[in-house]
Amino acid sequence: QPVYLSDYQPPNYQVTHTELTFDLDPTATRVKARLMIERHSEASDDAPLVLNGEHLTLLKLALDGSPLTEADYRLNDETLRIEDVPAAFILESEVEIAPSSNTALEGLYQSNGMYCTQCEAEGFRRITYYPDRPDVMATFKVTVIGNATSEPVLLANGNPVAQGALENGRHFVTWEDPHPKPCYLFALVAGDLHKVEDRFTTMSGRQVALQLWVEQENLDKTEHAMASLKRAMVWDEQTYGREYDLDLFMIVAVNDFNMGAMENKGLNIFNSAAVLTHSNTATDAAFQNVEGIVAHEYFHNWSGNRVTCRDWFQLSLKEGFTVFRDQCFSADTNSAPVKRIQDVSFFRTAQFAEDAGPTAHPIRPDHFIEITNFYTLTIYEKGAEVVRMLRNLLGWEDFRRGSDLYFERFDGQAVTIEDFVGCMAEVSGADLEQFMRWYSQAGTPEIDARGEYDYAHAEYHLTLRQRTPATPGQPDKLPLHIPVRMGLVGTKSGKDLPLTMNGETLGKDAVIHLREYEQTFIFTDVAEAPVPSLLRDFSAPVKLHFPYSREDLAFLLTHDSDGFNRWDAGQRLAMLALDDLIAAHRNGVEKVMDSRVVEAFRTLLTGQVSDKAVLAEMLTLPSEAYIAEQQPIIDVDAIHAAREFVRQSLAMALRDEFIAIYNDNVSDEPYAPTPEQIAQRSLKNVALAYLMSIEDEQGLALCEAQFAADHNMTDVRHALTLLVHSDRDDLASPALKAFGQKWAHDPLVMDQWFTIQVTRPQLDVLERVEYLMQHPAFSIKNPNKVRALVGAFAQNRVNFHRLDGKGYALLADVVIELNRLNPEIAARLITPLTRWQRFDEERQQLMREQLERIKREPLSSNVFEVVEKALA
Ligand code: ARG
Ligand code: ZN
Repeated sequence: QPVYLSDYQPPNYQVTHTELTFDLDPTATRVKARLMIERHSEASDDAPLVLNGEHLTLLKLALDGSPLTEADYRLNDETLRIEDVPAAFILESEVEIAPSSNTALEGLYQSNGMYCTQCEAEGFRRITYYPDRPDVMATFKVTVIGNATSEPVLLANGNPVAQGALENGRHFVTWEDPHPKPCYLFALVAGDLHKVEDRFTTMSGRQVALQLWVEQENLDKTEHAMASLKRAMVWDEQTYGREYDLDLFMIVAVNDFNMGAMENKGLNIFNSAAVLTHSNTATDAAFQNVEGIVAHEYFHNWSGNRVTCRDWFQLSLKEGFTVFRDQCFSADTNSAPVKRIQDVSFFRTAQFAEDAGPTAHPIRPDHFIEITNFYTLTIYEKGAEVVRMLRNLLGWEDFRRGSDLYFERFDGQAVTIEDFVGCMAEVSGADLEQFMRWYSQAGTPEIDARGEYDYAHAEYHLTLRQRTPATPGQPDKLPLHIPVRMGLVGTKSGKDLPLTMNGETLGKDAVIHLREYEQTFIFTDVAEAPVPSLLRDFSAPVKLHFPYSREDLAFLLTHDSDGFNRWDAGQRLAMLALDDLIAAHRNGVEKVMDSRVVEAFRTLLTGQVSDKAVLAEMLTLPSEAYIAEQQPIIDVDAIHAAREFVRQSLAMALRDEFIAIYNDNVSDEPYAPTPEQIAQRSLKNVALAYLMSIEDEQGLALCEAQFAADHNMTDVRHALTLLVHSDRDDLASPALKAFGQKWAHDPLVMDQWFTIQVTRPQLDVLERVEYLMQHPAFSIKNPNKVRALVGAFAQNRVNFHRLDGKGYALLADVVIELNRLNPEIAARLITPLTRWQRFDEERQQLMREQLERIKREPLSSNVFEVVEKALA
């Protein structure tokens, strides 16, 4: 059943032009297709034509105008095969589909009565018979017919070329997309939508109409997305020289969507959570997320659409590159150090966990059963880290020249990761052969570093040893080319020392290249004993171990010239203290707070960290999920207890400082999602969280006042979360109720209301999840609701991992139900259960039982693939 990369064959037939007519109906939409097909010059004359098609009712089929009968073709659940076809011909078909019962949200479906599509990766085959693969690229002409009253707006890719009224209250619009594209970029939207419109003039003077289509009640939530889009368009022109290429660019918001958004040519479709914002309904984090996703989808117009993937094994070609591009855009638009800290801290938590589990896979997998299971942190985020390493290895100028060459040479083509890296090698002359292993080898490389200062010779010897743990199907690993950016910070001067190696001066901040299993780097003329600052800015996606003392870390925390590593030193220092406390908790020994951590935090609070956003990050302890990743066996209760103990100890020791920070950063300026305001709010809210961890009287009063002030969603949600997560149910319950009533009409706010409740640490959460699943605002068919309630619950470690196994059973119940409704979401939801090897034996047993129970069901290929790997 799996498909293998090594089996790739170019298509025997190309579709050069595609014409589609949709006669929309909830239960019986008619799709007529007229395909201009040509045999590939290298294909043999008798090569059969094989088209993909699933969940379609075939009504008519004709070749060059002559109807085909059942004797002329072979049809099964997945393919339509015609044995004998000419070298060039027109194939016409008509099928019937039922959008209203399409709960998988792949192909054409209905969301809140509105029609929309999701075709990536293999959804187009649920719309019509077609060679559903990205290396078949055609121009499209699409006519959409709908009811003038219920579907006044009819959209598809490209430019509208005709429209008019039809009989029986029907009307139509015809769209033409002049850019050849694979069918996964096809899109259609129809419904009662309203638009916000703006204009953009490209660098060469092209006038582009920008339209954001939403339901009427959301018209006041579009401003930020539109502004983000315009910033992204300017940025891509200035940074990559990429210009938009149609007269119209549309974004549509839909409520039911499996992922964040989709880059369909000229008609991006967004999960409403990834595009709608208003200061009253969305948090700062949501504003930033929207900005990043709007940019991401827009950037795909070049990295993905103009140059696309040859096959789905190359998915990271477009996703890794585009994530890297959106990360840089957000860094340029907001606080660059904070963006890096947040991206890396998410990466080290979630991608490292994926790499350490049974679904670990390379950035370019060599086989899969279900491609939708491979829209992963590895393909996206690790892929972006690898592109970032390329940028750093080549330097921006060569990287940009490589990017220009890539877009120019492969415009309009479907290509591979080699094509991309090849351009980078060609323009720079760099040897990237060993570097390519990053794409084929799974798992997180670990570097064990040791350093020694030789006083007599004024030398520093740094030894780096790399190993990549075995992952499924890859027992042995070769050494990778790992760029390690570093400095040596003098313990006397507190400054970066000049680096000299083999007589060559390298500056004060240099990159050393680890290519062997083990290498020793000798720095000469090192005037004073240094503390090494390694892997600056997270220069490679690896785990780096160095036997730092707490004094070393406290020193780096204040003296490292690299902002990222200053933050990381704080995280490492906290981790050392947390490790002791986790051990104390397990051994039933009294917990004692490490005073060095308290003093380090005092220095931060009273010191000179000028960037408030960075300070907020530095004051934030590693999450339970991150701490868990560092443990050989995850003890959820010990981790929770240790982290709470550190939080409360810091809050007690530094109470007055936190109060002062809070008061210094309250503001009644009107809300704006500016970096300055966001920084202030996060710093203030971090301080409030510490105060609430000890239920400080004044902290409680501030928290209640912040909730009642109702100034913006960031502050309201934070205050409500702190109340609900405290033991003061007397304060929490009325607040929760008021919030729920006030926002009952707004699904995106209700998502937050669900999440706040099911992430509290008190041990009554499971019952609350069961209760909330019956709430009228919940629907198992809506992916956002499932994520907000069930997905969030599974992240609540102390509750999900209850020792009676009920948390696991609840998740399995939902997976089993969703397996029938929406396999893609079901397969994603299993993730926490697949990590069973990381827990104690009792929990391992309980988690495996639930996986076995799921496995006994009749399974979709999505869920089957994940469960199979998890139990292997
Ligand atoms: N290409 C889209 C993006 O990254 C995501 C595709 C969603 N695919 C899916 N199978 N749900 O922007
Ligand atoms: Zn993408």
